[in-house]
Amino acid sequence: MAPSKEDASPSAPRAPQAEPHDLNCLTIAELEKIAYDCMDKQTRDYYNEGADSNSTLAENTSAYAKYRIRPRVLRDISQIDPTVNIFGHRNSVPFGVAPTAMQRLAHSDGEIAVARGSRAKGIVMGLSSFSTSTLEDVAEASGDNPHVLQLYLFEEREHSKKLINRAKRAGYKAVFLTVDTPMIGRRNLEIRNQFKLPAHLSIANFAEQDEDTDTAVGKDHSRATTATDEKKTSSQQRPKMPRERRPSTAGYTDGQTRKPPTGPITFHTHAANPTLSWEDTIPWLKEVCGTEMQVWVKGIATAEDALLAIDHGVDGIVVSNHGGRQLNGSLATLDALPEIVAAVKKRVPVHVDGGIRHGTDIFKALALGADFCWVGRPVLWGLAYKGQEGVELCLRLLSDEFRLCMGLAGVTRVEDISREYLCRVDRDGFVSRL
Ligand code: FNR
Ligand code: LAC
Repeated sequence: MAPSKEDASPSAPRAPQAEPHDLNCLTIAELEKIAYDCMDKQTRDYYNEGADSNSTLAENTSAYAKYRIRPRVLRDISQIDPTVNIFGHRNSVPFGVAPTAMQRLAHSDGEIAVARGSRAKGIVMGLSSFSTSTLEDVAEASGDNPHVLQLYLFEEREHSKKLINRAKRAGYKAVFLTVDTPMIGRRNLEIRNQFKLPAHLSIANFAEQDEDTDTAVGKDHSRATTATDEKKTSSQQRPKMPRERRPSTAGYTDGQTRKPPTGPITFHTHAANPTLSWEDTIPWLKEVCGTEMQVWVKGIATAEDALLAIDHGVDGIVVSNHGGRQLNGSLATLDALPEIVAAVKKRVPVHVDGGIRHGTDIFKALALGADFCWVGRPVLWGLAYKGQEGVELCLRLLSDEFRLCMGLAGVTRVEDISREYLCRVDRDGFVSRL
């Protein structure tokens, strides 16, 4: 058929082409299933498990089913704006990519694919201290898309100070201090599998320390290739062989004396820091971050701690239980959220993560007062499935679902999402207004 006059006109408005669907994967639940077969057992178990019996992991997700949405109609939703401001940037949706460690386990492009995918979708990325790409490389891949550094503040603070200063130089907007890991939760599959980072990977931010002493942390980050848990790797992957690794030891308390961890920084020996405290840690961190980077605390689960966080001058709070990987039996993050929102009274932003598997979950968290959400495992599943393309698929599914939820609930602006849009389902299945 010949094109009509209207079609031929160069200035004729065209409806935007919808991105084609991936017919194998239309939901995060399907993505989880597909990703299962894309990962080796050690990686899959490490990513997917929680602590102990996994009950908190499960409840993080099931908590969302305790609420239903009260949709409003006839409201002209032809102009939906799902964007929000965060770190001086317009984020395309009110969620970001949560920091998760060792992403090259899922795909050879690891954190770089996540950074590129997040950038393509206009979504802020959190980078783990224990990444398998350097924070500088991730900053470069992120370009002008905002990125924040998750911080494990080590007992030997000089290491952390160097990392923070590197993050400042690389343009990170904030440090998210993880506060729910004074000890590492018990992850039974990790123990049973004797989890070990494969020889070709490294905890890149701290890799050089094998080539020099501990004081080398922060040098020459472009050459960050030393394996953390292995003594040697193949000469093709590493032109210069590092010195034989010294063993790392975890910190311990000997009577009244605290012995900090020693040796090269590894997750199992250095991440947990039982010496952190409100009065000592937060002022130090604020001073080191200066005016260049905000200081947030990630891992708050009670109103009491939220108030302490405000008293100590943090810039924001992430309600989190580490994806159910720390204290099993602790409450689901969605259940912790309302009391924290009520206590904070909008003095600082309150974010939440844990168990978000659908756009409607994001809507519900916002309706309960969260300003923003973070998503962990689904992004890892996308990464395992197809690298950057899979990350984008994951972010797109959640974004599309969220936008659709806004429209069908009759809301056009994120700031209008409120408790009015939710009701609670009780044990007998009856619903009541909040
Ligand atoms: C994490 N998380 C995490 N948190 C953190 O502060 N530093 C880290 O290095 C990691 N690493 C990490 C690895 C893996 C495999 C997972 C699954 C999680 C916790 C993460 O930031 C976030 O709190 C949860 O993942 C949120 O829960 P969902 O979205 O995975 O259910
Ligand atoms: C984890 C750490 C790295 O949860 O935060 O595995």
